[in-house]
Amino acid sequence: MEINFEQALQYELAALAEQNLRRSLRSLTSPQGAQVSVGPQSYLNFSSNDYLGLANHPKLVKAAQKALKEYGNGAGSARLICGNLDPHTSLDQSIAHFKGTESALSFSTGYTAAVGTIPAIVGRGDTVILDKLAHACLIDGARLSEARLRAFPHNNIAYLKKVLRQEKNASRILIVTESIFSMDGDSGQLADIVEVKENFGAWLMVDEAHATGIYGRNRRGLVEQLGLSSKVEVQMGTLSKAMGSSGGYIAGSHALINILINKARSFIYSTAPSPAVAAASHAAVELVGGPEGEEQCAKLWKNVHYFAERLPARWKLSDEPQSPIFPLMIGDEGEALALSRSLEEKGFLVPAIRYPTVARQQARLRVTISAAHSTEQIDQLLQHLKQ
Ligand SMILES: Cc1ncc(COP(=O)(O)O)c(C=O)c1O
Repeated sequence: MEINFEQALQYELAALAEQNLRRSLRSLTSPQGAQVSVGPQSYLNFSSNDYLGLANHPKLVKAAQKALKEYGNGAGSARLICGNLDPHTSLDQSIAHFKGTESALSFSTGYTAAVGTIPAIVGRGDTVILDKLAHACLIDGARLSEARLRAFPHNNIAYLKKVLRQEKNASRILIVTESIFSMDGDSGQLADIVEVKENFGAWLMVDEAHATGIYGRNRRGLVEQLGLSSKVEVQMGTLSKAMGSSGGYIAGSHALINILINKARSFIYSTAPSPAVAAASHAAVELVGGPEGEEQCAKLWKNVHYFAERLPARWKLSDEPQSPIFPLMIGDEGEALALSRSLEEKGFLVPAIRYPTVARQQARLRVTISAAHSTEQIDQLLQHLKQ
């Protein structure tokens, strides 16, 4: 029997629903924050990556408003044509200063930073080696590069060495990992990876999406905290999580940034972000790098430890929290969904993370803690988790 377009898609959607894997959108009617609204319903939000509570910060909002007034809304074209407005240039410079690198380049999102960068630095005849739990954007970037793809089990350095030995004939080898893994909340074994990649003459790209703004003396990320800044060729991150804005970045040498300006297709063939967004991101970078960032960061870690110390043993994965991300492991997709819905009925937003974001039967509730949470709000969630 022949089925038409609509039927084919409906069939697929029904199959997703049957496996508890169908997703749908929820529309918030308030700004981002510890408390959010969906219409008349108010929720305590334990699902945001706004770790420092900056998404609705007056300095970011004001910077965007000022830029809107001065530059209007649209950037008009790609940055290489006529869309590179002063806020974009200032943002790039502020990121380089914040990260302590020679240069930096902002992208529309972290996703486009990854899919533009990997194919710009490796290609056919090269090899990309990814941690198995690397984010989808890193996998997609590696696929687009047409380099040979290899993976090593999460943080398994012995296996990484084995792959490096097998790939010794590749022209270039790029190892790609994250500093803080988005769905597990644990850290990459960066010091070991740096040692291994130096021994094998490979290059390293570290995605600091969930670490930018919350680790290191200057809050540059985990690479800074571990003293590895000069040893990581490509430092990537986003402005959309702890920075409370939107956009992605690559920080590194002048040569790296010039290659990206010339070769990163997601940068070249896409209209520049609105100057208002760039200006808000610039304000965020300055704030996070300054005393207010330090204060918010201290608040965040106080909340993280408060939550971790009181989390029921059933949900604990380690004694010491490594990040504001706490995966509450469930396994079955249906069960995770049911638990998330029951928390929602009680007024908490805690999403069920399911395949394909994580492996099948690895479903979990992903709790994220923010500097914006009060102790009372965290206590309320803990009380329900104990039940
Ligand atoms: C580890 C990681 N890298 C990259 C990204 C993409 O960043 P953005 O949301 O800015 O596109 C995300 C966000 O989902 C992420 O979790």
